[in-house]
Amino acid sequence: MHKATAYHDALGDHFAQHADTSPYNAYTDRPAMLELAGDVSGTRILDVGCGAGHYAAELSARGARVVGIEGSATLLRHAQARVNGHAELLLHDLETPLDFADDASFDGVVCALVYEHVRDRMRLLGELRRVLRPGGWLLMSTTHPTADWRHFGGSYFSHDWRDLPLGDSGLSIHYQRMPLETFLGELLTAGFVLERLVEPRPVAGLREIDEAAYDKLHRAPSFLAVRLRRP
Ligand SMILES: C[S@@+](CC[C@H](N)C(=O)[O-])C[C@H]1O[C@@H](n2cnc3c(N)ncnc32)[C@H](O)[C@@H]1O
Repeated sequence: MHKATAYHDALGDHFAQHADTSPYNAYTDRPAMLELAGDVSGTRILDVGCGAGHYAAELSARGARVVGIEGSATLLRHAQARVNGHAELLLHDLETPLDFADDASFDGVVCALVYEHVRDRMRLLGELRRVLRPGGWLLMSTTHPTADWRHFGGSYFSHDWRDLPLGDSGLSIHYQRMPLETFLGELLTAGFVLERLVEPRPVAGLREIDEAAYDKLHRAPSFLAVRLRRP
């Protein structure tokens, strides 16, 4: 499994806990992506880099048959506990082909906050296109390029690999920052058609529990989320 990008051991445990309640994941990215998914009842969905299974559990509860793939055994254990047998979960390195999946075997793919961790992104996109049926959809979220620019400085157009410390935990995540042009350009080059683009703001519920985070995330975007179609 990819040592540098997948969230192993303490980092996996930290993310599993964080994703549960954090203003970023629970109140901003996930609600926006689930809204982009719409009615998923009766569909078969691939959850790419499923982490602690938050999407897999929610999409299954909404009537989808979900296959989650994840490169960290630590996070896969968290996901297994969360989905409780209601989704199929596989340990899989996203740098390798999706050999387990037939062509055109999924109606939808969810890839939330994973793309920026992947090295061979064009190969992954080719595989996602292959396993999606014609007319199928791809939802992808990533760190907003301007958030990375604010945080790391330097050139907005940088493609540096960076380590982002997670609060005062002593842990950090490793990913590649990229301008909007690269993110969208790669998706379009891979043959997907853009249907919607949103810059998610936190849902109202966050205001009651963390007004400062609510205000901050309403002032400056943290994420970018897109819905694309496989022609
Ligand atoms: C920010 S987390 C997002 C998890 C989940 N999609 C969510 O939104 O809750 C990024 C995930 O990508 C996974 N990941 C990163 N690189 C990977 C790789 N090469 N193969 C498989 N999983 C990988 C990490 O282990 C982690 O679970």
